[in-house]
Amino acid sequence: AKLHTHQFVVEATPVKRLCKTHNTITVNGMYPGPTLEVNNGDTLVVKVINRARYNVTIHWHGVRQMRSAWADGPEFVTQCPIRAGKSYTYRFTIQGQEGTLWWHAHSSWLRATVYGGLIIRPKQGDAYPFPKPHRETPLLLGEWWDANPIDVVREASRSGAAPNVSDAYTINGQPGDLYNCSAKHTLIVPINPGQTNLLRVVNSALNQELFFKVANHKLTVVAADASYVKPFSTSVLMLGPGQTTDVLITANQPPNRYHIAARAYASAQGAPFDNTTTTAILQYHNFSSPSAKPVAALMPAFNDTPTVTAFTRSLRSPRRVEVPTKIDHNLFFTVGLGLNNCPRGARARNCQGPNGTRFAASMNNVSFVLPSNFSLLQAHQQGLRGVFTTDFPARPPTQFDYTGNVSRSLWQPMRGTRLYKLKYGEAVQVVLQGTSIFTAENHPIHLHGYDFYIVAEGFGNFNPTRDTPKFNLVDPPMRNTASVPVGGWAVIRFVADNPGVWLMHCHLDVHITWGLAMAFLVDNGVGELQTLQPPPPDLPLC
Ligand code: C2O
Repeated sequence: AKLHTHQFVVEATPVKRLCKTHNTITVNGMYPGPTLEVNNGDTLVVKVINRARYNVTIHWHGVRQMRSAWADGPEFVTQCPIRAGKSYTYRFTIQGQEGTLWWHAHSSWLRATVYGGLIIRPKQGDAYPFPKPHRETPLLLGEWWDANPIDVVREASRSGAAPNVSDAYTINGQPGDLYNCSAKHTLIVPINPGQTNLLRVVNSALNQELFFKVANHKLTVVAADASYVKPFSTSVLMLGPGQTTDVLITANQPPNRYHIAARAYASAQGAPFDNTTTTAILQYHNFSSPSAKPVAALMPAFNDTPTVTAFTRSLRSPRRVEVPTKIDHNLFFTVGLGLNNCPRGARARNCQGPNGTRFAASMNNVSFVLPSNFSLLQAHQQGLRGVFTTDFPARPPTQFDYTGNVSRSLWQPMRGTRLYKLKYGEAVQVVLQGTSIFTAENHPIHLHGYDFYIVAEGFGNFNPTRDTPKFNLVDPPMRNTASVPVGGWAVIRFVADNPGVWLMHCHLDVHITWGLAMAFLVDNGVGELQTLQPPPPDLPLC
């Protein structure tokens, strides 16, 4: 196994997109930031130097961080932010994960521009479980604001309204040839006739589920969230923010230029969204007219939920897996939006949500509030009181028709920093129940520090008697982000074998901003191998 040492300098850099230049927060002057390449079993040492005027932290999305929670990165959860002028070194080892993950800032909305890929190849000397591709291309789907994204979220937090939608989707930071001024900002992906490329697709967008397609080509899905899947063929992918999908594509069409395209899957009806399409170009080698108009990709309709369902149901583990069956914690979490009444005495300009409210979001009616003077992990490790409580409810306080016509009285979540405690080694099942409070929407729910099996998903209200017998306990997919269907539910299972404080949240940044999050506190087990490592000496304190 190798040791990879990197330095990430976070700083403002002028970036021009859509005809305008913005001073953009980048890593090493790159937008998006560098993509790191490692092998399973390798160790990463990344020194992050903050030369920007914002607080920053870096999260290694999907890396299990076994016993190394201090390197996980969410601000005020596993560390205090790296202040301007300061630095922090993240150290962790990749253990048993192969495929594509990514890294991103985990502070305010900085991840809009501070992100990059993390490619994990098999252990040195091991082969892929599929024919070796001739070429590999990471494709990071993102969003670009013709504004400073931090200003966008600050304004939304002040007004209580929904933030402005982005001005373009991007592939590796390039909007593509369908946008104004972007003919030169179009990524070219070369391919040789007859050969196969491995596309490592990441949804790094802030607030948007995305469909992904390549004109006239089939895609063979081989991995998702750095776990292999039973290969299957499809013409379209759907990725929620945070999710990754690795696909093989073979150049078996007439030599030409073909669009690689992504556009919104907007499950929420009536919500404002950007219905444009970002493109890159799959270009056959030696194709004689390199300026020819690319063959267009025919994208699914923005609300094509059946296509999404067909795609997610095709994801299976490659073989029989060991799903925990003796469950110690059977949890039922509602996930969804809410609206808070305007606080007494507040000005109208601070209550610009629907009918003079403020937007909120919650799990089990609790809007998660980050502490500001300590990180949760530090408070736990030092036994500090008053930073959090451990009474996060195992189910919502009231039962209601979650996906039906929800009464106004249930729109108002309470705020709190509540954790749910797990003992080392306990088996957990969480039913993630979407709600139609304010509006039903697809929620990509991400758990830090773990991969989980998604044993079932469905529409409407979860019904244990009807739905439990249908769980897939044979070959469910393993992921770190579950896309909870719009107006439906998903069930995940994992074993709490990684001590620390682990955030679980909706990966739509606007929803985490509104509180759609909670955290698990997992105790140490017995002996060194079940115990969190001591904090690094340079851990930022508040
Ligand atoms: Cu990729 Cu807490 O997030």
